[in-house]
Formats: sequence, structure tokens, C-alpha cells
Amino acid sequence: MKRMIVAPSMLSANFANLAKDIEVVNANADIFHLDIMDGVFVPNISYGTPLIKTICSNAKIPVEAHLMIVEPQKFFEEYNKLGVGSICVHYEACTHLDRTINRIKELGMKAGVAINPHTSVKLLENIIRISDYILIMSVNPGFGGQKYIPYSTEKISELKKLIEFNNPNCLIEVDGGVGLNNIEEIAMAGADIVVAGNAVFSSANPAETIKKLQGVI
Ligand code: DX5
Ligand code: ZN
Repeated sequence: MKRMIVAPSMLSANFANLAKDIEVVNANADIFHLDIMDGVFVPNISYGTPLIKTICSNAKIPVEAHLMIVEPQKFFEEYNKLGVGSICVHYEACTHLDRTINRIKELGMKAGVAINPHTSVKLLENIIRISDYILIMSVNPGFGGQKYIPYSTEKISELKKLIEFNNPNCLIEVDGGVGLNNIEEIAMAGADIVVAGNAVFSSANPAETIKKLQGVI
């Protein structure tokens, strides 16, 4: 298997002992994945600035914010100041996506577009040209610990072809229900980055699980 970039989702971390989980991620993973939910775009509320600040100030690897919120542009400057290195917004939440992606990049951050399971990758043909990465949701967003939707794999392969044609520098991230049982299939289909919450933090040895997902052990 090729070396995968692994981004543990801190939604599944133990908030009563966050320092320990931050340390495991710093020492083994590639990116911190922060899931921001507003109870409007998705049927759940997660966390906001205080926790983002805590993680950013302790992070030794890049921090990514996955914004599952309406009007995400309201938070770009604040998150940038906190030290967030990349921001991913939902295709379904942005009426002026081209402007939104350009604004993230203007601030010096990497910009990603996330799509819900029902959204076709075909719709990304144009925005791929200016995006640093596309995030394919392989569960319906809102909660950690859900089951991987099987047709997501076809979407990854289809997206890979579109990317090769339109912007080979654009990376593919897959988020939701990723674990040791399906990492091979996801990697083979063309993913570069995988998010894993439950698979990492509910495992007996999170450090080892991260390494296995990366394909280094
Ligand atoms: C879901 C989030 C995911 C999720 C991943 O809305 O975007 O990042 O927390 O968790 P697992 O890996 O447990 O599906
Ligand atoms: Zn996420």
C-alpha cells in the first residue's frame, strides 16, 4: 500500500484527557482533523474556538478545520490567527464557492471542498482547478463512529480521473467510517488523505492504528 496521510478526527478523542490524545497524534499522525458543527448544516453541535485554540497551540503537525456549518466564511480570519493551516468548506453550504475558496487561499491557508454522500463528484469539475484538496464524505456528516458508505469508493475513483485531467496537484481526502478493514480499498481507489476518528481512538493502541493506516507497519 502507498503511504497514506492520516488525519485523526479529534471528535472521537477523550476530552477528559485531551493532552494524552494530542500527544499521540503529534507523535504519530500527519494532520489534526477538527470537525466544526453548528447544529444547522448538520444535526449536531461539536466544539468551537476554545478547543481549536487549545489544539492549535499544542500542535506540532498541521491543523485542518472541516467546517460543517452555514456561512463558513465568518470564521476564516479567526481560525487563521489561531494557527489553522487548512480549511475545508462544504459544497452544499456555499453559494459562492469560488469566492470562498479564493478567500481561504488569500489568507495563506490551504483550501478544500467537502461533498456529502449524495453530491456527485462531477459537480467539482471546475472548482478542482483552484482547490488544494477535495474531501469525500463517506458517511452523512454529523457524527463520528458511523459505517462507511460502500459507493464512496466509486466516487473516489471517479474523482481521481477528474483530478488527473483538471489539476493533478489536488489531493483526495476521505472522511467517515475509515478503518483498517477498508483502508486498502480506499487507498487503491486514489485517496491521499484519510480521516479516522473511531478507528483510532477506540482502538487498544491508537499510535499503532495510525501507523497501520499510514501503511508504514
Ligand atoms: C463526521 C466527521 C468525521 C468523523 C469521522 O461528520 O466529519 O470527521 O468524525 O469519524 P469516524 O472515523 O469515527 O467515522
Ligand atoms: Zn470531518
